[in-house]
Amino acid sequence: MQHRNIILIGFMGSGKTTLGKKIAQKIGFEFVDTDLLIEQQNNLSTSEIFVQKGQDYFRLAERDLLNDLKQKEHQVIAVGGGLPCFFDNMQQLKQMGTVVYLQRPVKELHQRVLPKLSTRPLLANKSSDELLEYMTELLEKRESVYLEAHIIANRNEQTVTDLLLKLDFSIE
Ligand code: S3P
Repeated sequence: MQHRNIILIGFMGSGKTTLGKKIAQKIGFEFVDTDLLIEQQNNLSTSEIFVQKGQDYFRLAERDLLNDLKQKEHQVIAVGGGLPCFFDNMQQLKQMGTVVYLQRPVKELHQRVLPKLSTRPLLANKSSDELLEYMTELLEKRESVYLEAHIIANRNEQTVTDLLLKLDFSIE
């Protein structure tokens, strides 16, 4: 089955980057990570961009980046957790290729982000309980957008093999 691009969306900690790299390698697409590209463009980490330039700046950078990525094909794109939820980005993503939502229960996302809080500015400086509450609320706000994806992969369908099977079967 032909996919122009494969776009992985989902909350922080859902595994977009790890899975995206593996899928790209398997099918010979270029792997692209929106957070990483914005970091490289600014020569700053995501956390530094949030602190020094603000979240609005970061969201505009994400939107501008989509305009660049839209020109290309054969990419597996791991998209920052908030990107689909700003401007008309979700519609843009859906025009760029096949959008896959990596869905996981919030408690699992919470466990997965705990060791890496410092790299995620929205999650920093919270106790574990506060963090779970914050993530639960934020996921509730965002999930209606995530669910607009072409394909929803639940936690049992997130191996490379399962996901590639699902991509073929769902699109044909
Ligand atoms: C964010 C998610 C992060 C990064 C930034 C904001 C969000 O990406 O873009 O810290 O708003 O959910 P990951 O989902 O790759 O962690």
